[in-house]
Amino acid sequence: MTQTLGQDTLDVLLRDVPFVTEVHYLPATTSTNDVLKGLANQGAPEGTIVVTDEQTAGRGRLDRRWIAPPASSLLFSVLFRPALTAQRAHALTMLCSLGVRDAVRDALGLAVGLKWPNDIVHQGQKLGGLLTEIDADSESLRWGIVGMGINVNWDPSAISGLAQPATSLSNIAGAPVPRQGLLKAILQAISQRYAALKEGVSPAREWEAALETVGQRVVVEGGAEGLEGTAVGVASDGALLVRASSGQIHRVLVGDVSIRPDAKG
Ligand code: BTN
Repeated sequence: MTQTLGQDTLDVLLRDVPFVTEVHYLPATTSTNDVLKGLANQGAPEGTIVVTDEQTAGRGRLDRRWIAPPASSLLFSVLFRPALTAQRAHALTMLCSLGVRDAVRDALGLAVGLKWPNDIVHQGQKLGGLLTEIDADSESLRWGIVGMGINVNWDPSAISGLAQPATSLSNIAGAPVPRQGLLKAILQAISQRYAALKEGVSPAREWEAALETVGQRVVVEGGAEGLEGTAVGVASDGALLVRASSGQIHRVLVGDVSIRPDAKG
């Protein structure tokens, strides 16, 4: 399925999603996060989104590249201006990843999981990722941008050198998946969850419950290098709580975790 999305299509598609204020479609660009950062610094309103069909410099966490063939995926970024401190910015990642999970379930009938800190997964394979970036002063965020990349209609399993095995929605469904309806469902779910956050409802406990990482034996790479233990939960700021064999609980804020397939915590 190689049909592109297009500005006119997106304008019509997303006009009744309450949270969406401006839609910027680019047939190709460097990185939707980078484009949206420029718009945010020029004063773009909360709810501005940048959507593309192709990125030439798509970025992931830990300076990784994000690869997707043209018109194969959902590649977009969302601008938030929440009354949150920088320490609470992970709430944006939480609510967006829960929104993606909900939308994939409701729009496609597929059950996908979440892996700490920013992965959408299916049976241990990465289906998508979120890249959250912020600008803040000592009091609160000026903006938070959550970029989302979801593998839809291509087969990433053949790509070598990936940080973890990958899959796509079409691989899981066994058929091509229309991208427009899914994008709308994701933004609607995010819209509802963001409204709840503004009412003071933290997504932390629901996100913790959705994380496949919790309850598993894990190895932490990067950040708290060499730490092994059992993931026992997440703190309200998104830190993964890992109980080492000594019994000590470590807070992990940066890094990757591999789930050890041999044991449950
Ligand atoms: C990760 O898994 O490390 C995060 C991947 C995030 C990729 C998306 S694609 C849209 C947006 N623009 C980017 O450059 N990155 C994010």
